[in-house]
Amino acid sequence: MDVDYDRIAKHYDAHRRAGDLYIDTLLALLGACSGRRVLELGAGTGNSTAAITGRTGCTMTALEISPGMLRQAAAKRIPARWVRASAAQLPFKGGAFDYVFSTYMLHYIGDLAGLMRECARVLEKGCAAFVTAPASFIRDHPMNEYFPSLAGVDLARFQRIEAVEAALRDGGFVRVGHEQRARAPEPVNEAYVEKVASKFVSTYDLLPPGEFEAGLARLRSDVRERRRPGLTVTWETVTIWGWRE
Ligand SMILES: C[S@@+](CC[C@H](N)C(=O)[O-])C[C@H]1O[C@@H](n2cnc3c(N)ncnc32)[C@H](O)[C@@H]1O
Repeated sequence: MDVDYDRIAKHYDAHRRAGDLYIDTLLALLGACSGRRVLELGAGTGNSTAAITGRTGCTMTALEISPGMLRQAAAKRIPARWVRASAAQLPFKGGAFDYVFSTYMLHYIGDLAGLMRECARVLEKGCAAFVTAPASFIRDHPMNEYFPSLAGVDLARFQRIEAVEAALRDGGFVRVGHEQRARAPEPVNEAYVEKVASKFVSTYDLLPPGEFEAGLARLRSDVRERRRPGLTVTWETVTIWGWRE
């Protein structure tokens, strides 16, 4: 993993919340499961964990690899069993869960086929769902103009919807599908510039030396001088799922 989550754990929540659009999709899928034993992979500081446990009567197990992120999550006292382990090798017996999900964790998994096999094993019957960034969002992002390597970095690490769906089918999942959703456009204003300055998404940590500073300076100046009125960001998310029957 190139992003040091132990280092950024303390500041992770400053600009990150669970997104209502994908939480709604995840809740609808959980509602269609016959049981309520839930496993979250790469739970981070517990934002999605809290959103799901707060709105359902599920039994939640939250798995996370970074001790720093786990410490931040623990402070929130979310009613879940926290497990430090890698999603690549799940320390659970077969059939232990009815629902497995992750939000923005999948792009850290090199071996998608292996992950799907592990999910199929711990599910036996039920649903696996993965929230991630769609290629259209990455390709059309207005910040690409300011940070020329941004799209290349993310297109190289976020898997395509088709690849995730194929891995689910190969792993023995059926009724594979996805739902892509978008928020209303938000203005690129001073507040948005501050989010970029805080590197609210990990991609900004992965740019070549100097590119972040140069792009941020140009963005700041354009917004301050009102050279780009009407510039907006439309946040898009996709949830990809499959069922074990
Ligand atoms: C972008 S964060 C998302 C955190 C949280 N799901 C959210 O939506 O706020 C990615 C998380 O995945 C975790 N992660 C990365 N690779 C992992 C792996 N192999 N097993 C478990 N967690 C992993 C990271 O430590 C980090 O907390």
